[in-house]
Amino acid sequence: MNKGLLLIVLLCSFIFATAQDIQLVTPTRTGGKPLMDALNERQSNRNFVKKDLPAQTLSDMLWAAYGFNREDKRTVPSSQNRQELDVYVMLSTGIYFYDAKENKLIMKQKGDFCAALGQPNITGSAALSLIYVINLDKNSRDAGLIAAGFSVQNVYLYCASAGLGAVARGSFKRPDLQNVMKLTDKQEVVLTQAVGYIK
Ligand SMILES: Cc1cc2nc3c(=O)[nH]c(=O)nc-3n(C[C@H](O)[C@H](O)[C@H](O)COP(=O)(O)O)c2cc1C
Repeated sequence: MNKGLLLIVLLCSFIFATAQDIQLVTPTRTGGKPLMDALNERQSNRNFVKKDLPAQTLSDMLWAAYGFNREDKRTVPSSQNRQELDVYVMLSTGIYFYDAKENKLIMKQKGDFCAALGQPNITGSAALSLIYVINLDKNSRDAGLIAAGFSVQNVYLYCASAGLGAVARGSFKRPDLQNVMKLTDKQEVVLTQAVGYIK
């Protein structure tokens, strides 16, 4: 293969590999309801109207969940700042890793894997589901569970502020989700959270 052709092939494969990622818009890090109002309105919602989140809302919600609010620190604390939690997003197009530094959703698995979420009466009409994964090679399981709790509550509060609904869900299909996400034995899905427009 000559050099020109090789370059075109490499370029095409690079474009193909990255085309499915989603570049998020810059999150809005100010505004929203006063904290006490958001706390007062925080609750679980399970009845959604199927509708996608606007780009700004998606970015803001993910930033609230696990974005960086300082150079190397996030909207949630973590033991010794080990940041053992990862947040993934399940959409009907695939499963994406939230890369908070690059402000991107990186496609990890292409396809509709929503069946692995369980509780289709809830997840079927949610705009998306967040999947909280802890990395056991970075910190203890307890630390990871606590970090996930912080993140889940941030999303609850963001949703209360933005007029969206959310519900934390432990009743997902654990082995199915671990399989479709192709996680290692050092990664564990600890909780999911459906987010969407309230019916
Ligand atoms: C760890 C955890 C797991 C949960 N799992 C589910 C679940 O699988 N399905 C569901 O509908 N709600 C689930 N919930 C939501 C609780 O049922 C809900 O938080 C509780 O009833 C209190 O209601 P509230 O969130 O409106 O205050 C879960 C909550 C937590 C914290």
